[in-house]
Amino acid sequence: MQNRQGGQNAISVLIVDDIAETRENIKKLLAFEEQEFRVVGSVGTGRDAIKAAIETKPDIIIMDINMPDMDGITATSEITKRLPTAAVIMMSVQTDADYMRKAMQAGARQFLGKPIDTDELYSTIRAVYRSYESIRNQAIAIQDLPVDVRKPQPIQGEPGVRPGHVIVVYSAQGGSGCTTVATNLASGLMKKNVRVLLVDADLQFGDVGVFLKLQSQSTLLDLVGKIDDLDTDFFDSIVATHDSGLKVLLGPLRPEYAEEVEAVPQAVSRIIEKIASNYDFVVVDTSRRVDEHLLSLTDIATRVMLVVNPTLSGIKNTKFILDLFDRLNYTPDKSLLVLNRVEDERSRQRVTIATEQIERFLRKQVFAKIPDAEREVLGAVMKGVPIVASRDRSKSPVKEFLEMAEHISTLLVGANAGESDSGEAEERKAPKKAGLGLLGRN
Ligand SMILES: Nc1ncnc2c1ncn2[C@@H]1O[C@H](COP(=O)(O)OP(=O)(O)OP(=O)(O)O)[C@@H](O)[C@H]1O
Ligand SMILES: [Mg+2]
Repeated sequence: MQNRQGGQNAISVLIVDDIAETRENIKKLLAFEEQEFRVVGSVGTGRDAIKAAIETKPDIIIMDINMPDMDGITATSEITKRLPTAAVIMMSVQTDADYMRKAMQAGARQFLGKPIDTDELYSTIRAVYRSYESIRNQAIAIQDLPVDVRKPQPIQGEPGVRPGHVIVVYSAQGGSGCTTVATNLASGLMKKNVRVLLVDADLQFGDVGVFLKLQSQSTLLDLVGKIDDLDTDFFDSIVATHDSGLKVLLGPLRPEYAEEVEAVPQAVSRIIEKIASNYDFVVVDTSRRVDEHLLSLTDIATRVMLVVNPTLSGIKNTKFILDLFDRLNYTPDKSLLVLNRVEDERSRQRVTIATEQIERFLRKQVFAKIPDAEREVLGAVMKGVPIVASRDRSKSPVKEFLEMAEHISTLLVGANAGESDSGEAEERKAPKKAGLGLLGRN
């Protein structure tokens, strides 16, 4: 627990109950610990709760379940959608399991039995507040991201009319940081009014769920049989939502299920094509295997980010991929090199290759350079929060990841603001025929 000084630093609490006496009672109990808790509002209906939550942005909302007009479950669902940093503690006399399940689904984090027990009230607020620390940091980071570097291109508010840029993240060498780059890119692209979907297309050993601590049972396998009549509602019921608001389409739960996805030609790319216009960016994490599944994704991609470590085998494998892209007639600007795990000259421990040499050998400029930062990268995975959500955005590698996201956003949003029938748009509309196998394509 942080050492709280009271006043502005105290945990802000909104109290919602239709019985005035209960509200007063909780308020008094919290006032005994005024150094630690600050009541920012006290309202008697679900509707007022939504209004007050948006106005006061409390850390904690203590919410009654049964209220006239709008019940606590509906209000919780609305509030948690709009204000991911507010943690709702549901209060009820009922111990009905069905009620509890519904409240949890609506986004409630904890329960308090009625009548309120003083110690339980304090300890529950403290525990829930503590568990929300990373979510608060993430939200602060996302809100504060600089937006004005982009062209003031209006991003339409409605789903179905968004640009749907598909960014495939690929590495020709396992363990190079492909998933690390994909999750941080997706998170870094998220800003107000920008919808981002992260897809785990590493069908056998996808790590996105682990990196973001998501445990949904719904995965892209659920979509495979329904591609032809896939609608937005069904798609939305399958995607998981990270606490930051990032939408994530998880990969199959077990390696052996990958086959079921692969049995349907171009399954993942067709799913993405169907829903892309609901998003500004669709970031796709992939495995290193070069097969039809991968190429159907790179075919529809607006950009392919090639993640490379500055090692001999990393560069050699990337060269093969660039040659293959050449043979597939991808334009050179379709692929972008991301040099990951770049070691500081002075503290270099491994034998790595200088950026200029890599650029010369691959005949391609490096688009982004991410330093080697094991502690930060692993720390983020342990917390289930992308690195870019860190508070200190001037620190490496947060800074570099954010610059990379900003850079690509400027590139794509700028390109999108240009002529609508550019070569790039054509490329997306008419992906090259897949299904012939690699050789058939050459
Ligand atoms: N910039 C970095 N600095 C230090 N460690 C990193 C960096 N990027 C990634 N790593 C570490 O490298 C390992 C592999 O990263 P990641 O899982 O993102 O790679 P991948 O290419 O997706 O691997 P896989 O082939 O298993 O899918 C992880 O332990 C990760 O913490
Ligand atoms: Mg991976």
